[in-house]
Order: sequence, then C-alpha cells, then structure tokens
Amino acid sequence: MNKTVSTTPYTDQKPGTSGLRKKVPHFQQPNYVENFVQAIFDSLEGFEGETLVVGGDGRYYNREVIQTVLKMAAASGFGRVLVGQGGILSTPAASHVIRKNGAFGGIILSASHNPGGPKEDFGIKYNIGNGGPAPEKITDTIHARTRTITEYHIVEADDLNLDTVGSRQLGDMTVEIIDPVADYAELMESLFDFTALRALFAGGFRMAFDAMHAVTGPYATEILENRLGAPKGTVRNGTPLPDFGGHHPDPNLVHAKALYDEMMAEDAPDFGAASDGDGDRNLIIGRGIFITPSDSLALLAANIHHAPGYSGGISGIARSMPTSGAADRVAAALGIELFETPTGWKFFGNLLDAGRVTICGEESAGTGSNHVREKDGLWAVLLWLNILAVRKLPAKEIVEQHWITYGRNYYTRHDYEAVDTAAANDLMDDLRSRLGGLPGTSVEGLTITSADDFAYHDPVDGSVSEHQGLRIGFSDGSRVVFRLSGTGTSGATLRVYLERLVTQPSRLGLDTQQALADVIAAADTLAGIRSRTGRVAPDVVT
Ligand code: G1P
Ligand code: ZN
Repeated sequence: MNKTVSTTPYTDQKPGTSGLRKKVPHFQQPNYVENFVQAIFDSLEGFEGETLVVGGDGRYYNREVIQTVLKMAAASGFGRVLVGQGGILSTPAASHVIRKNGAFGGIILSASHNPGGPKEDFGIKYNIGNGGPAPEKITDTIHARTRTITEYHIVEADDLNLDTVGSRQLGDMTVEIIDPVADYAELMESLFDFTALRALFAGGFRMAFDAMHAVTGPYATEILENRLGAPKGTVRNGTPLPDFGGHHPDPNLVHAKALYDEMMAEDAPDFGAASDGDGDRNLIIGRGIFITPSDSLALLAANIHHAPGYSGGISGIARSMPTSGAADRVAAALGIELFETPTGWKFFGNLLDAGRVTICGEESAGTGSNHVREKDGLWAVLLWLNILAVRKLPAKEIVEQHWITYGRNYYTRHDYEAVDTAAANDLMDDLRSRLGGLPGTSVEGLTITSADDFAYHDPVDGSVSEHQGLRIGFSDGSRVVFRLSGTGTSGATLRVYLERLVTQPSRLGLDTQQALADVIAAADTLAGIRSRTGRVAPDVVT
C-alpha cells in the first residue's frame, strides 16, 4: 500500500516565528502540504517505530491535513500516532501529550490567532520530543529540504474516523484517537489549588472567559465550569468553529473588545480572560483594568509561589527581547536570573530544559512555565485565579501594589500591517545602517544611549541567532524596538515596541499612550514610519 510520489520543490516553505503559515488556498496547491510534511520527516532521524502526536486548533483544512499527515507518517515508519478527538489539540495540550507519552515529536496544525476559513490562514509546525517548537537548527534543515525534495511517501488508504476515541490501524502504524482535554485538565489540577478555586467560585466570584470560538472552549468548559464549579455561561463562544465565527481569534483589545467593554462597566465580573485560536495566548482583564502581558508576566512571577505546583519558588525568568523590563525588576528582587531571548517560544525550550528558568513570557500575550514547552493561555488564567483566591484582593489592587513596589513599565506595541514588503525592508535596512551613529544624538528631546541589532547567544547550546530586532535605548531608560513579524501571511507587518519605566508614585496612573508620547514620536522620526509606509497611524495598538 505504500506509494512513492514524485514532486517538485516549492521555494517558499521557510518556517517563520512559529512554523509554516500561509493562506489556505496556498496550502491547497498540489503537493504543497505533502512536500512540507515529507521535508519534516526527511529532516529527522531515528523515529522508526516511535510515537508522533498530531492535532490542531480545528480551523478550516485541519481535518484534511491530519489525514495526509497520518498516511505519510505511516509510510515513513512511525509506530504510533496520537491524535486529539476530532483532530483537536490545543498547542499547550499537544506539548503535554508529547511529553507525557515520551513521543518522538508532534505536528501541530494552527495559524494561532490569525483568522480561519477557506480563504484565511493555516499553518503547520513541528515540535520536538521535549514538547516545544523545533529549534532553528531543525527548521533550517526542514527549509533546506523543501528546496531539494523530489518525492514523498504515503500509504493508500481510506480516511480514518477521527471522531471516536479508540485505536485504529493504518498500514503498520497504530492511530490512537485520544480525549484532547483529559490529560491537560489533570496536569492543571496537579499545579493549582483546585479546592481553593472551587471555594472562590462557590463564594460568588464572577468570571467571563471568551474562548473566541477557538480551541480553548472545551478545555475551559471542562476545567472552569465542570471541575471548578463556575456558573454555566462563564465560558463564552466555547464551541470551536472552522472559521472562528468569522472573527480573528486574537485575544487583544481590538478583537476581544466586547469583553474589554464588559470588564470596564460598573457591574463588571470580577475577572475577564480570553485565549486565542490554538489556546496558547491569554488576555487578562481585571474589573476596571487591562493587564498588559508584560505586566502579567512580572506579576505572575512575583506571586507564583502561591500556587502549589510552584511553592518552592522559581529558578529564573525568561522574556522575549521586545517584552517590557517589568519582569527584570522582579527577577532582581528575587535574586534570580533573567534571560532576554528573541521573539518566539522556541528560544525558551533550552532554558526550561536546563532548569535555568521556571516561567517565561512574551509581550504578545504568551505566558508559560516548565510544565510544558509552549506558552499556555489557560494555565496563565488559572494561575491568576489561584493568586486571586489566595490573596483575596481584586486584580486591580494587586497590579497597583505591584507598581508601587517595582515601578510601572508603561508599554505599548504599534503594528503596521500588510505594509509593502519592499518598503518595510527598506525601513529596517536603512535604520540598521544608521545604528552605529545614533548613540550620543538626540531625537524628540530624548538622548540615545544605545542602538543595536539584537543577536542572541543561547547560553545552553551556544547557538547564535542574529537580526532579531533593532533596539534603541534612551538616557531616561525608555526604549523603542523595531522588528518585522515572522508570522504574517500578507505583505509585511512592522512591529514597533515602546516602553518607559516610571517609579514616582504620583505618576503611576497615567494614560499609556500619553506616558509614551515622546518615545512614539522619536520612533517615527528615527525610522520614518509615516513617510516610508504611507500610514498615518498604526493598525493595531496593544
Ligand atoms: C508573533 C509574536 C510572538 C509570538 C508569535 C507566535 O510573532 O510577536 O511573540 O511568539 O507571534 O505566537 P511575530 O509575528 O511578531 O513574528
Ligand atoms: Zn497561538
């Protein structure tokens, strides 16, 4: 039944920040999926008879690609594949299933927070045996392989039933359809004080969780409503849909505006949260306060010992370079190491594996710990709930106390989306070429003290990743970072990250955009954003 099919390479199968992401019609080109999947298998060694984990966020094209992956895995010699029922596995749950079962690796199908549907986004990502995204060494090998591929292997068989739990045979390989939620829920129960959380909800604590018609729905319903006793209706938009109900499953203030408005109202619930398409991002909103992901990371790190799974404290904190320095202040106070890594979760894996850090986070609403090797939206929400249950204070007060203790890192990100690719590259190239001459000069009243093109030297394996963002520091400690997105699927997305640390107690309650007005102006003057992109304002402000 094994069949070898000849094929010709595609030239655009370079994995980005988080796997290969393209529009669905792009993936539907002849052999496009097969080429990439074969390139993954060709780049790996020693998986004969081993276990592979496969699942996705349920978006359009998920089921079709899972069938292809299964048939190709069988033809390539995997012994067993674990698939989430209905083809569903959130990204953090997939990471856990890989780890728990000692799998060789996993293939996760998702385009995260990007829209789904016949004309929208899709993605394929390979994770290694530690449960985390493949490091650059492997993604580079996969990319190289896509450029030379001449054939792929597949078994000829009927499509498998993915909808009922149980074992099936595909060629010589076993396919096990597993409950996608059970293992993950058990893991959460081992980390957090479910008794305290049940008491919290029993005491009338009100929460709104927006699953955005994406993969977290079944996980949140099982954990929050079934196991913790939160009232029915706590989880909204809880049924995963292939097109996410026509919305962007991106838990930010633009796409989760309804939740934000509700949380700012007089009669708001005590706590609001949302997760993205594949369940790895989180949005946290207390009554009357949006908590930036950078602040959330710092707050979680400072309070994580309240959760039983972390009662022994933490070894270190890692954050992506553009994430604010709020966590640095917590690390300094705790006397633990702080690592600054390039954007993307794959850089945290080595630090977690080596035990150098316990908690990690990114400004893009990703937070996680050593319990898996992906960021984990629901984990962050449950940790927040655990902290609220123990400290018995509103989220807003906890945040304000944190700022008084550590200072407040005012922080915002301005995104310019679908910018002409050449214009975006020119902007970056031009600024990069001027970096050396910037220190000592002034712009919009701010004196530049540092300017560089961020390169990361991995302290665990010694690998070097260059060109990870242009960062410019000012004498008052404020900073701007420029980088181009590695996950976009149309044109280029320019991300401008802006930050300022303020410690005077009287200046902790300012409006973020006002607190950063001069840094924002400096960013435009330095890079010529308006003139080069033709945009007068960012498309997204987070
Ligand atoms: C974006 C975020 C990054 C995150 C990634 C995957 O990547 O900025 O922090 O890890 O999505 O969720 P970017 O589009 O900036 O390359
Ligand atoms: Zn995601």
